[in-house]
Amino acid sequence: MAKRRHNFNAGPAALPLPVLEAAQASLFEHGGAGAGILELSHRSADFEAVADDCRARIGDLYAIPDSHEVLFLQGGASLQFAMVPYNFGPGGAYIDTGTWSSKALAEARIIATAEGIWSSAEGGYRAVPEEHAQPKAPEGATYLHYTANNTIYGTEYHYVPEADAPLVCDMSSDFMSRPVDVSQFALLYAGAQKNAGPAGVTVLIIDKRYSRTFRGSPTVPKILRYKTQAEKGSMYNTPNTFGIFAVGQVAKWVQDHGGLEGMAKRAEAKAGALYAALDAHPLCTGHAVGHSRSRMNVTWRMQSEAQEAAFLAAAADAGMMGLRGHRSVGGLRASIYNAVEPASVEALIDLLARFEG
Ligand SMILES: Cc1ncc(COP(=O)(O)O)c(C=O)c1O
Repeated sequence: MAKRRHNFNAGPAALPLPVLEAAQASLFEHGGAGAGILELSHRSADFEAVADDCRARIGDLYAIPDSHEVLFLQGGASLQFAMVPYNFGPGGAYIDTGTWSSKALAEARIIATAEGIWSSAEGGYRAVPEEHAQPKAPEGATYLHYTANNTIYGTEYHYVPEADAPLVCDMSSDFMSRPVDVSQFALLYAGAQKNAGPAGVTVLIIDKRYSRTFRGSPTVPKILRYKTQAEKGSMYNTPNTFGIFAVGQVAKWVQDHGGLEGMAKRAEAKAGALYAALDAHPLCTGHAVGHSRSRMNVTWRMQSEAQEAAFLAAAADAGMMGLRGHRSVGGLRASIYNAVEPASVEALIDLLARFEG
């Protein structure tokens, strides 16, 4: 335990200790199955129970209505950049709030027609649209795609966009961090490796009108159709069994800690304290504009790269990891996902208070 550092990685990222302990215990023998979790057939009743439990917990957390269902896929959020246009068809509208949404749009354009309708690229991706000035999808758009939390730039939507078109959301880096009415979405997807589990599993909450009816071209491979995956209970091919187990354990931990409301409070307290410390620090300037500040990834610059390097060195000495900003923004970034303990954020705030350049 002494060797574990304050983990501010952007993803894969910190996981709750009880999840690691449950994984450790299940590696050797899982729940009376006579074999470890990595050794169970995905077709066995023992693993079916693991997948059902994970689905049920996510269903409980988000109060998922009968109109929607949960899928567990692979290929990361990046595969969804392709699956969305393959399944929703041409004519998607995209809001560009940073690298991942630009990549989603670029991928869609390879597959079909898709239009960027708003971008904060010019200002260095410091903001998402303000709630009172939301970009509208053009008439006839087949879907509106946005990125709820921009991991690299540290910006986040604090509202669900109004959409005339079916709403599609990349929620990779703030999934399970606050309550959301999932009935507003045609699809939300999240690579699990930030807030929800390990790398290698993508969680989808999808409206059955899109998962049970295929609307794309007949040339789309079967494996890339939501319908194929939904009809096979996410087991058209061998799923990431261990990843699904771990996501279920994370969902259990979230349930045990006040559910999504509990996570929202925890996130607001941690992020609020860290932003207050940064705002008060003479050497620090936040990257995101006020209304767009992320509760998950806090990004900032110091006055010089030399100060930033000195701060990173001091942080490493103080037992911290993962604070270097993404190469496209530079500076510093603290990813303070659900599993990052308030004590780790307090340690970072203490270090900032002592740091004079
Ligand atoms: C918001 C967001 N979308 C998409 C991705 C890409 O995810 P993956 O590597 O799982 O494809 C990331 C990865 O950091 C992300 O933060």
